[in-house]
Amino acid sequence: MDNSEPQLADQDAAIALLRWYADMGVDEAVAAAPADLRRWGAKPAPRQRAAAPATSTPVFKPSEAALPADEAVAAAQKIAAGCNGFEALEAAVKAFEGCPLKAGAHNTVFADGTPGADLLVIGEAPGRDEDRIGKPFVGRAGQLLDRMLAAIDRDRAQNTLISNVIYWRPPGNRTPSQTETAICRPFVDRLIELTAPKAVLLAGGAPMQALLGVTGIMRARGVWREIETASGARYPALPIFHPAFLLRQPANKRLAWADLLTLQKRLMED
Ligand code: URA
Repeated sequence: MDNSEPQLADQDAAIALLRWYADMGVDEAVAAAPADLRRWGAKPAPRQRAAAPATSTPVFKPSEAALPADEAVAAAQKIAAGCNGFEALEAAVKAFEGCPLKAGAHNTVFADGTPGADLLVIGEAPGRDEDRIGKPFVGRAGQLLDRMLAAIDRDRAQNTLISNVIYWRPPGNRTPSQTETAICRPFVDRLIELTAPKAVLLAGGAPMQALLGVTGIMRARGVWREIETASGARYPALPIFHPAFLLRQPANKRLAWADLLTLQKRLMED
């Protein structure tokens, strides 16, 4: 008997197992650690072409890939510190190979909106839609975020910049690890410094914890705090519920609305 072909009974069993997984909500084959898509012959297709870096852009060298975490953080700090504008920072993040999540992602999701806006929104990490398109907050949660911002006369095209604390989709949307967050942090700090916003809106508990070291979004939302970047600069930050949470628990939109008004008031002050 040729064992190289699966037998009919095996196929039926495999299909039954896959159906059961799908019924249980498992709709993607992923492990906690990112798989390197390139080793599986994945088409390079939807990966973005990184813009040609400006001559002043510090670029990550291939020899620095797969560094130990502390060295990856140190490399990110050095590169981020050398970026003197939004475009240089964007090119540097896209060229950076030091975060293991990149190997399993289709796109680097850096930011979307108006560079230098007085409002910077920071979320957690790209999901499936964001990974596919290469922009933050483009799925259902992103559409709700856009409607929330529109309610206080804010939009990406004119007066708001949107980003995340992680630039590559974690497998299966799992929570990013502390190491992954630490590796991205120097770039997040630099984006905040280069934007110099009047307010940073932290969308959800994950960016709140990453940037303020505070846990418990139910109590911390709607209360102004300060983000301190690596260089010691301070920026006002307001945590609010993540829009994905509001989609699941719409009764909390009332509190989110109050927080948006708090934000609007601050943005209208001189
Ligand atoms: N959720 C986030 O936190 N960020 C995104 O970009 C999309 C969904």
